[in-house]
Amino acid sequence: MALPRFGALLLALLIAAAALAPVASAVPFIVLHGIGDECGNDGLASFTELLGVWSGSKGYCIGAFDSWLMPLQEQANTVCKKVKKMKELRKGYNIVGLSQGNLIGRAVIEYCDYGPPVKNFISIGGPHAGTASVPLCGSGILCILIDDLIRLGIYSDYVQAHLAPSGYLKIPTDMGDYLKGCRFLPKLNNEIPSERNATYKERLSSLENLVLIMFEDDAVLIPRETAWFGYYPDGAFNPVLPPQETKLYTEDWIGLKTLDEAGRVKFVSVPGGHLSISRSDMKKYVVPYLEPDVSSKQSIRRILSH
Ligand SMILES: *[C@@H]1O[C@H](CO)[C@@H](O)[C@H](O)[C@H]1NC(C)=O
Repeated sequence: MALPRFGALLLALLIAAAALAPVASAVPFIVLHGIGDECGNDGLASFTELLGVWSGSKGYCIGAFDSWLMPLQEQANTVCKKVKKMKELRKGYNIVGLSQGNLIGRAVIEYCDYGPPVKNFISIGGPHAGTASVPLCGSGILCILIDDLIRLGIYSDYVQAHLAPSGYLKIPTDMGDYLKGCRFLPKLNNEIPSERNATYKERLSSLENLVLIMFEDDAVLIPRETAWFGYYPDGAFNPVLPPQETKLYTEDWIGLKTLDEAGRVKFVSVPGGHLSISRSDMKKYVVPYLEPDVSSKQSIRRILSH
């Protein structure tokens, strides 16, 4: 007699889950932009809007900080405060990062105490393992100022406090100075043995999916494999190590290995230069993780497995 009753209960649960799913799983997303960009720019506004239309989920571009000059830790603190204030995100949200915005996204996931939970993190051209070259700037007044700053030494306190990209410049032949002077990335990647924080690993490895999109002809991120957490070995500019051969992965400093072994890291390579993602690749590699579907299927699976 227990069996039919259990069957009825299961059926009721399934119906309830199906009825609740569309509402419970309409997960909004935020877009974190790259250096020199702004949410008000046409390109970024239409990028956010297209993802919203194609996925059927609500998207918000979060910005309003000085992406060149404000240190990344401050940019991340600003975003952490914003996401905590947004009622829409309370039940969880997805992050789409562009270039430098991915490091802010990861800092929000790892550091933002009492923030809403992040479900999927879709990283487009992120310098996750650092970059060995200053992002191309040009010849405007701001760029000349930046040149002067760089000449003072990238790991000096002054440059670290006044130039965001210095927070993830990693010269493989100068690792001692990097670990000592670089304020942002060594901490984010749990690179300093005496300062590793297990909370960062726990939080990053709780993601449902980590999608890492690399551009085949990326000439801004050096090496381009940094978008997958690949990088040079300490002390040399070659060869580029695939992510699985870096210490960050093998010693699992931030949970990348844990996530990968659970099948939750998607290593994606697309044609084109830095951030030049095509509409069809957006539909193929970004939109599926923003669709309400992904999470609702997972919640039903979760209900069934309990
Ligand atoms: C580790 O990081 C978390 C999150 O930011 C923080 O609350 C905690 O105090 C840190 N632990 C140590 C030992 O620094």
